[in-house]
Amino acid sequence: MKRLILIGPIKQLVPMTGLPLNGALSDHQLLIIENAAILIEGIQIKAIGKFETLKTQYPKVELQELKGDHTCFPGFIDSHTHLCFGGSRANDYAMRNAGRTYLEIAKAGGGIWDTVVQTRKATKENLVKNTKKRANRHLKNGVTTIEVKSGYGLSVEEELKMLHAIKEADAALATDLIATCLAAHMTPKDFEGSAAAYLEEISTVLFPMLKAENLCHRIDAFIEESAFSALQIAPYFKKAKEMGFDITVHADQFSTGGSKVAIDFGALSADHLEASTETEIEQLAKSKVIATALPGASIGLGCAFTPCRKLLDKGAALAIASDHNPGSAPMGDLLTQAAILGAFEKLTNAEVLAGITFRAAAALKLSDRGKLEEGFLADFSLFHTGNYQEILYNQGNLKPCMVWKKGALVFDKHKG
Ligand code: NIG
Ligand code: FE
Repeated sequence: MKRLILIGPIKQLVPMTGLPLNGALSDHQLLIIENAAILIEGIQIKAIGKFETLKTQYPKVELQELKGDHTCFPGFIDSHTHLCFGGSRANDYAMRNAGRTYLEIAKAGGGIWDTVVQTRKATKENLVKNTKKRANRHLKNGVTTIEVKSGYGLSVEEELKMLHAIKEADAALATDLIATCLAAHMTPKDFEGSAAAYLEEISTVLFPMLKAENLCHRIDAFIEESAFSALQIAPYFKKAKEMGFDITVHADQFSTGGSKVAIDFGALSADHLEASTETEIEQLAKSKVIATALPGASIGLGCAFTPCRKLLDKGAALAIASDHNPGSAPMGDLLTQAAILGAFEKLTNAEVLAGITFRAAAALKLSDRGKLEEGFLADFSLFHTGNYQEILYNQGNLKPCMVWKKGALVFDKHKG
């Protein structure tokens, strides 16, 4: 017999159900259940309903009675991070804010390559420790599923080290980590050969190892002038698709081109899109690709936000993720960033919340989370307020008081 627990009364429960995957959402479309309860059975949700009704229906179950007003949301999903890394790029940040250019910073030893050097120096154990620490911080902020990319190893051996570290951290954490191989982050400076030869080596040597060791089922690439062109990446993605990997793309961050690659290869998501113009927005909206905004990178770099309002109005599916990484997005607080993005891009509460719940789940092809309904994972957070609008209004400053993951209480503010 699986353990049954009834949690309530919850002043406002926002299950994020009954909403479309694509397009604009008004707050009137949000279902809000007042004086609600969640019944969990093992790792899943057995029922959502009114507290009094469920209490009468299930009189014998374990009761977790809540005191004071609470609002409940599905566990947040961060569908794009690079939180497994070594070192720090505080100096890049300082130089950028002092007006130095990308090229100057790279010449001074900064940029992605600096993190590659630091990550290669770190032991796998050290990467596991830091990945766990960062993921636990996300968990306390209500994030119960986190995508984590490799991409700071940039050789078969070092990418494997990162992906092993992510797998070990995942096994030790309450939070689920979804690994993605980003060996195509840039051509490593120490690779003796062309970009094409590097990608060829990764796809022929590393891809089969990822399959054999079940290390990840997602392949990402950075399409950008400083990284890989659409032409260079085509055979790489073709191979990945033939082998059954899902594709995701770092697209249109500083220049366009990446979102078209994402559409052409049937990627799950195209992420960044700060540089997307009307043409790319139209094409993304017509496609099945989830458009993912990364406000943490805009805040970290001091750049424009992804044109979210336009994407939604044209009918795109919009996810919002933190991009937590040491270079462009060091903050790593998804809720704060999503709230700020909402204020700048004029997104409704429903649109922002959809972007960090079920729309982010779709970007990771996960159909068991992102909503609170029967059969879904019992992943949810409780906030100390009786009005759901307070969450984004407080711009991330109102943190969850309790986080439940797969039916277990994994964070309780009162217990620290
Ligand atoms: O998503 N754009 C490329 N990659 C990361 C940045 C990584 C870094 O600067 O270390 C991003 O922003
Ligand atoms: Fe990224």
